[in-house]
Amino acid sequence: MSYEFTDHQFDVIVVGAGGSGLRAALGCSERGLKTACISKVFPTRSHTVAAQGGISAALGNMGDDDWRWHMYDTVKGSDWLGDQDAIEYLCRNAAEAVYELEHFGVPFSRTEEGKIYQRPFGGMTTNFGEGIAQRTCAAADRTGHAILHTLYGQSLRHDTEFFIEYFALDLIMDEDRCVGVIALEMSTGTLHRFQAKQVILATGGYGRAYFSATSAHTCTGDGSAMVIRAGLPLQDMEFVQFHPTGIYGAGCLITEGSRGEGGILINSEGERFMERYAPSAKDLASRDVVSRSMTIEIREGRGVGPNKDHIYLHLDHLDPDILAERLPGISESAKVFAGVDVTKEPIPVLPTVHYNMGGIPTNYNGEVLNPSEEDEARIVPGLMAIGEAACVSVHGANRLGSNSLIDLVVFGRAAAIRASEVVTPGEGHAPLASNAGHAAVDRLERFRNADGSTPTSELRGEMQRAMQENCAVFRSGEILEEGCKRMQDVVRGMDDIGIADRSLIWNSDLIETLEFDNLIVQAIATVEGANARKESRGGHAREDFPERDDENYMKHTLAYVDAKGKATIGYRGVHDYTLTNEVSYIEPKARVY
Ligand code: FUM
Repeated sequence: MSYEFTDHQFDVIVVGAGGSGLRAALGCSERGLKTACISKVFPTRSHTVAAQGGISAALGNMGDDDWRWHMYDTVKGSDWLGDQDAIEYLCRNAAEAVYELEHFGVPFSRTEEGKIYQRPFGGMTTNFGEGIAQRTCAAADRTGHAILHTLYGQSLRHDTEFFIEYFALDLIMDEDRCVGVIALEMSTGTLHRFQAKQVILATGGYGRAYFSATSAHTCTGDGSAMVIRAGLPLQDMEFVQFHPTGIYGAGCLITEGSRGEGGILINSEGERFMERYAPSAKDLASRDVVSRSMTIEIREGRGVGPNKDHIYLHLDHLDPDILAERLPGISESAKVFAGVDVTKEPIPVLPTVHYNMGGIPTNYNGEVLNPSEEDEARIVPGLMAIGEAACVSVHGANRLGSNSLIDLVVFGRAAAIRASEVVTPGEGHAPLASNAGHAAVDRLERFRNADGSTPTSELRGEMQRAMQENCAVFRSGEILEEGCKRMQDVVRGMDDIGIADRSLIWNSDLIETLEFDNLIVQAIATVEGANARKESRGGHAREDFPERDDENYMKHTLAYVDAKGKATIGYRGVHDYTLTNEVSYIEPKARVY
């Protein structure tokens, strides 16, 4: 069939309008690049809005701090899977990126002297592990909200052009080069081809591959699935972070900042059990450690509630004025979603899927990598990725809390700087191939006309339950093998998919099907990567291989998934070098908390 497209040309297209997308868009616009930002939701509804506790940077406002200590913590937190050149870039540039946000207008909470308020967060230490750092800059417990609204305003100020409620369908590739994106305007059902010299994917994580997640329902990793369909790999997908404190039953986030302000986890015996698992860091150990400890407590019968299947987070011993001033958002969430008054009762909590350490492999300039045997650092021309969609990799096997917001702005900014180096403003575009975008529309049409008997929601539910049961906090070969099989059953089930609405205008049935199709390939990459990694590291805890195995597995997983859902696993080396000679490589060692 013939397709009608509306064609657009820009220097840079940013896909996604969360923290990283907006930071990149404004950075490109202010550097004179004609920049568009495409988003499937209104920008200030992007998932960054839900980030609560804060953004890390060694400002030293609440005690001594140093970006090298931040780097040490991030390497250690990553369980030595993070690339140390990228981690140096992150931590070294963090303070400047936060001051920039302050000057853009982010309403940070303040100290008595008027400096940016900083709270303790898990795994953040002083002096290379000796003391507890107050490094997480906060706007009460609504830091993401404050940052997102400010960055949207700044992007408009710099004339970024927004295409809102456009659903990006696929990349437009010309051989190995990315030359644009094709998108569906959901309110009109029209198709748009956006040609660009650089496409920056800022499409977030894929938390919704799981049944219970703190992520918004929009977190379907659309950009990462486009990368997979382009035949490119995703990296380290087996590393999925469970946040220790999702509200039991609802999954909503209760910020780690609540433990930073003095909150404690208690089991059915009234014991502050984290003292046993992490005698030094206790409730502020890194998230993988706390989530595993909570899971063990529940498994061993010390969970709370009628079914002994969750844990209590106590804030009721804290000053109610502090709760009102520093944790107003979670106080409200606890009331609404758990019926709890935090000044009087504990919040029922459970480890809940929160963040994807894996994603689209990039270097620290945001350029997407397609490693080959000859060249592990091979770049995909015209394509960048940032934020949770990307795997830079600064978080390695486990991300420290508050290192996500700083990742968004540091690498959003880095991508803009790089784009301005490689793109000449206003330079002409080569004509698109006559069939550019047709494969994407074929896929759209296939799903729009799908007349099988299985609703998308049924297949999505099966995928989400399988991920929750077969790729959880603890894993084993047997459970993962079963998970791989369950994924293939879901893929086979897609032959019988049926959607009810044939229109193109606000067809939520169709959009949800496209999102599910995006999720399933990432779920496959996750469970297959986990099955192949026969060690325990960071967020990947194998009961059959409980030790970290640096000799065989200190390497990044690369997962390719073909159109039939078949995964191929490869590897590439971890960057065991730093960016400058100012800091030296941090050697792997056993983890002590
Ligand atoms: O707990 C939190 O506030 C989450 C922060 C993060 O994931 O960085």
